[in-house]
Amino acid sequence: MNSPRYLKFAGPVIDEATIAGVAEVLRSGWITSGPRVQEFEDALSAFCDGRPVKALTSATAAVEVALQLAGIGPGDEVITSAQSFFTVLNMIVKVGATPVFVDCDLVTRNIDLAQVEAAITPRTRAIVPTHWPGSLVDMDALLALARRHALRVIEDAALVMGSQWKGRNIGALGDLVTFSFHPNKNMTTIEGGALVVNDAEEAKRVDPLRFHGIAYLPDRTRDVAFPGGKFNLPDVNARIGVAQLQRLPEFLATRRSLVGRYFERFATDPACLLPPRPRDADGQSWNMFSVLLPLDRMAIARKRFRDALDAQGIGTGVSYEALHLCTLGRRYGYKEGDFPVTERIARETVALPLHAGMTVPDVDRVCDAVAEIVGRARA
Ligand SMILES: Cc1ncc(COP(=O)(O)O)c(C=O)c1O
Repeated sequence: MNSPRYLKFAGPVIDEATIAGVAEVLRSGWITSGPRVQEFEDALSAFCDGRPVKALTSATAAVEVALQLAGIGPGDEVITSAQSFFTVLNMIVKVGATPVFVDCDLVTRNIDLAQVEAAITPRTRAIVPTHWPGSLVDMDALLALARRHALRVIEDAALVMGSQWKGRNIGALGDLVTFSFHPNKNMTTIEGGALVVNDAEEAKRVDPLRFHGIAYLPDRTRDVAFPGGKFNLPDVNARIGVAQLQRLPEFLATRRSLVGRYFERFATDPACLLPPRPRDADGQSWNMFSVLLPLDRMAIARKRFRDALDAQGIGTGVSYEALHLCTLGRRYGYKEGDFPVTERIARETVALPLHAGMTVPDVDRVCDAVAEIVGRARA
């Protein structure tokens, strides 16, 4: 019998029309940032109710540029969740600011806003919350808190492209918002990201931040007044983005139906702690389906569990390690026990396969394997 295909835990869907579109860009003679980037930014802006959007080479670049745009640097504190991806810690440190961690909610995994408020000092300049699939950060409470304390908000929306807050796309409201188009995200440009800003003046200030710090002078020479980055997205990538954005609703619908099946299957064997089942199911996007393993009732460690799935051709991920306990985080004085919820998630979390190239029988295959391994582990 043939062994079943390896099921990656995340990945893109690229169609033939997109490949043909990329070939056209490659043949056009203009392959770096140009007309396709403009087209992509216009489409992203329409997606965000007309707010200006700038395309960049990654969400990491978008977070860095957002922090710089907000004027954040040495001496400033930025509050973020200890349960997120390394990007947020790295970029806060990279611009010279101090990361201030708080804990998150066990079920939604979103940043704990009460702890954010308690962590504010006279040096606090911004909050960087990461939205989690299935349940967004409470935007009304977040923006009210930021207003009360005159703080900037940089929403890390890498995982929630296509999620809606009260009927409006994430990105259409708020302050600065960043998206990722890494191949594991809801849509891709291979590598890529975007930054949503407030107005044309802010959008103009992004240009030198993403392109060498260059200012164009009236005599057709250039000047540099600060060391800008090099984060401009090429047209080849933007062409993929245009096609992916068109298919985003379809990708999200597929992901929703796969997650529906995960919930259905796990309902009868709730050995794992599941993400929240959203009331506005149609308004939520699902970039990942990340469960917490009942490790205290399992005879094997998470690594063995993941290895066992791997041996059956099923990939998994860890989203995420505790940021305050990585070597860089500890440099700011953090230690075990500071954020118990984040630490529990970091120990127990496993992201199961979820992407728009999967089918419901694929989910069944994963659920059968999980039940078998957890069951075997319990015995
Ligand atoms: C929550 C979160 N934020 C930001 C990023 C960074 O995205 P990129 O790879 O586009 O820089 C990631 C990437 O996995 C992420 O998971």
